[in-house]
This record gives sequence, C-alpha cells and structure tokens, in this order.
Amino acid sequence: MMGGMDPEAVKGAVALELRNITKRYPLVLANDRISLQVRWGEVLAVVGENGAGKSTLMKIVYGLVRPDQGEILVDGQPAQITEPREAIALGIGMVHQHFMLVDPFTVLENIVLGAEPRQGAQIDLVRARAEVGALMRELEFNLPLDTPVEELPVGLQQRVEILKALYRKARILILDEPTAVLTPQEADELFAFLRRYVAQGNAVIFISHKLAEVIKLSDRVTVIRDGRVVGTVNTPETSMAELARMMVGREVILSVEKGPASPKEVVLKVKDLRVHGKDKKHRLNGVSFEVRAGEIVGIAGVEGNGQTELVEAITGLRPYEGQIEYGGQPLRPNARAAREWGVSHIPEDRNARGLVLDFTTRENLILGDHYRPPNAGFLGFLDAERIEANAQRIVEAFDVRPRSTDLAARRYSGGNAQKIVVGRELSRGPRLLVAAQPTRGVDIGAIEFIHEQIVRARDQGTAVLLVSADLNEVRSLSDRILVMFEGRIMGELKAEEATEEKLGLWMAGVVA
Ligand SMILES: Nc1ncnc2c1ncn2[C@@H]1O[C@H](COP(=O)(O)OP(=O)(O)O)[C@@H](O)[C@H]1O
Ligand SMILES: [Mg+2]
Repeated sequence: MMGGMDPEAVKGAVALELRNITKRYPLVLANDRISLQVRWGEVLAVVGENGAGKSTLMKIVYGLVRPDQGEILVDGQPAQITEPREAIALGIGMVHQHFMLVDPFTVLENIVLGAEPRQGAQIDLVRARAEVGALMRELEFNLPLDTPVEELPVGLQQRVEILKALYRKARILILDEPTAVLTPQEADELFAFLRRYVAQGNAVIFISHKLAEVIKLSDRVTVIRDGRVVGTVNTPETSMAELARMMVGREVILSVEKGPASPKEVVLKVKDLRVHGKDKKHRLNGVSFEVRAGEIVGIAGVEGNGQTELVEAITGLRPYEGQIEYGGQPLRPNARAAREWGVSHIPEDRNARGLVLDFTTRENLILGDHYRPPNAGFLGFLDAERIEANAQRIVEAFDVRPRSTDLAARRYSGGNAQKIVVGRELSRGPRLLVAAQPTRGVDIGAIEFIHEQIVRARDQGTAVLLVSADLNEVRSLSDRILVMFEGRIMGELKAEEATEEKLGLWMAGVVA
C-alpha cells in the first residue's frame, strides 16, 4: 500500500533488477540477455516497437512466462518467480494490456477476489469494504464499489485493476500499454496518479511505444529493439527524436508532410446509418457524413465505439439501415460491388481480412480482383505474366522487403505485410480508400512510408476515410476530423482546430 515506508530513505535504491533475461520462442529470440534496473521512487519507461519483446519481459517478471536464462532481484535479493502468486508476495503488481477482471462481479468483489479478508471460514466483506474505501481515499480514486465491472467505462476498469494490485500491497507496479484504451484526459489522470505513487517511494515500470507520453511521465527510459536493450537514458536529457532513433536504429521523420487539400465532388455519402450490435459500444446510432475526392477525413475515437461497424457497413461487409451512396448512387451491401465501383479497404485486422497468410505475395496482391481484367481474361483464366509483372511493380514501389513475389505472407514482418496490403489497395487507383488502423503494429519507418502513400492518393483525387485509434495519426493525416463515441459522431473539427483536449472530451462523450 502507499506510504508504508519512509520514502526518502529508500528512494534511489534499486527496487527490481533483471540480469541477462533470455527467452526464445520457436521463431524468435523474444528477449536476448536483457538487463535493466528500476529504482524506488521512479517511473522507468520501457519502450520499443511492436514485437520488440516488452510484454514477454514483463510476463517473466510477473511469473506468467518462464525465462530460459537470467536472474531477477527484488530489493537486491535473488527472487524465484515461477507464478504470479510469488510475484505478488514480493510486492509486484501488474496491469495487463487486456484486463483480467471478472465482468459480472462488482468492483469490490474484483478487487478482493483471491485476497479476501476472512473471519474464520467467512469472507469479511465489511472489513474488505472498509479497507478498499480507505485505499480509494488515499489514491483519490472514486469507484462505485457495488457496480458490476462490465458496466464501467474502460478507464474506470483500469482503475479497478490498479486498485486490485495495490490492495495486494504492490510496491512495484508494471503497466503494459495502459493508455491504449484511454482518452488523453484519462491518460493524464493516470499519469498524475503514477507520479503520486512513486513520490511515496514505490516504483513503476511503464511499457509503451508512444514516445510523447513516455517523455511526459517517466524519469528514465530503457529502449528495447529486437529483444535487446539498446540503451537507457535519463528522460530530461533525451527527446522523442532520439528515442525514435534508438527504437528503429535510424533518423525518422515523425510528422507527415502535406499541402492543403483541394476537395472536389462528394464520393461517399453516409446518411443516418444504423447498425445493431451486441451492446451499446458496437452499434451505430444514426451516423451521417460525407467524404469528397481529394480530402482525408479522419475518424478519431477510443476503439470499440462503432468504428469497426462503420467501416464494415461502408465496405459492404455488414448489413445496415440508412443510406450509403457512392458518387451519388445508393449501394447495396455487397463487398464485391463496392470494390468494383472503386472502393479500396485497408482492414484493421490485416491477418484475418487483408491477407491470406499461406498465399504468396503475388497471390495476395490480386486478392479481390483476381476474377476480372487485367488479372483474368474473359473466361476467367488468370494472366500469369501480367500478374507477376504487376506484383513486381508493387513490391518495388511499396518497398516490400524482401523483394520477393513468391514468399508466403506469413513470412513477412508486420510492417512489410502491411505494405503488401497498402500496395494492393492503392495501386488499383481507388475512388474511395477506407483505411482502418493503417499503421497498427507497423514499425516507425514503415508508418512514415504508408502515410506518404495515403497523402499521395489524396493528391491524386482519391477520397480517403481514415479510421484510427491513434490520435497522432488522425491529427497529422486528416484534413477534417470526426469523433465517434458510442456509435455517434460527437462533432467535426478542421485538422488545425483539433487540439488533443477538444478531441479527448468528445472521445469521452463529453458535450462541450
Ligand atoms: N507465446 C508466444 N509464442 C511464440 N512467440 C511469441 C509468444 N509471445 C510473443 N512471441 C513473439 O515474441 C516477440 C516479442 O513479443 P512481445 O513480447 O509481445 O513484444 P512487444 O510487447 O514488445 O510488442 C514477437 O516476435 C512475438 O511474436
Ligand atoms: Mg506488448
């Protein structure tokens, strides 16, 4: 719990040390002799691109994964951590990327679950309530203890996870990508809490690949690349550019270069679109907007507020009520018709919808257009030469590495697999591009490239609808921004008016 020790006496001493942690999976060396230290009283950020090995390392510390090699020391003492129970006993708590709460249970039940105070054989709920209440006051958290957690917004569910760890007296708190599900304001509140927590002498390991927030929150940063520690720097002495360079091993440009848009005719018109979903987060409740040729319209919002349903309705993958018009023509809900009309789609789930993982690059590059010219002749025979020439052109133009046309899609890294999808969707000269999370899981170098290609398509007259949970991506690419919350459009802003604060309020459903 907070305040249990004299903070000044312990600050600066090493709380947790990892020495030469190694973990090999069949295809990858996820952690390669990783050593790092976190001290009492500090926030250590661990950053690295997707797949760098961050989550694996933290699961090792929490006893969820066994390392092949290496040592863990807590307070200078060698520790045996083979399951979470042992980590908890050593004062280690973890807030997972995906919460581990029991949905129908109340907040109080979730917090005390497995650590209930007892009176004889009975669980002492009165005492549990008093203890949790005291802890909440101390932490300045305000949670409705008798509400089932499934009824809470995600930001509050995360607080339940934190409270759960602190109820078990965690002094070292690990948070794995905790801001992925938060609005900017919720993230700021989390950061304020974490600063108070370490000021009392505790330690935090904060995992992220978002450099702006790492700079805002942490005291020191350890950068991991390809399973190895690249270096550790003091936050006040570093910059986003330096961290980015350490993450990818070269200089990168972090902003998109683009001129003003010159929007032309309306290409996509959506009117009073409704989709029935399993709960209020997966519905569309009357969405209307337009996208014109030559502009990028971004949809911002915390994931799971109807964005997936919107994209699927527009691309003909899901039934809907209301109207969708392409170039003034109403469309039947049919993916093939949409594609033939000139709709390209970069799907959010590249592996399920964007690629056939066992198909070659060449085959993946004609997916969706394989049955018609120029890929197939009148009778549907495939034109092998044309297909190969086309594949080589795209692989070259979209910088797919390795430059092969007959490697199975599953053999590419995330960034290169995404370049195949983007290359296929853009090289057909679409009238409308629907790009959903186009750079998720993609390394910084490839992000920059994909952004350039999207802007280029806009400048050649494509209407672009960009859906992204990454606020920086939406802000830097879009000409206009719409914010979605619980199946509705909360409002529209021009890109230059769209401050993080305004967007964040709308993303939380607050009407200003
Ligand atoms: N259970 C697993 N089995 C096989 N490979 C895994 C497993 N977990 C992670 N990996 C691989 O290990 C590498 C590091 O993954 P991870 O630790 O999740 O990275 P990060 O959290 O930095 O994105 C990735 O290449 C990933 O595919
Ligand atoms: Mg991870």
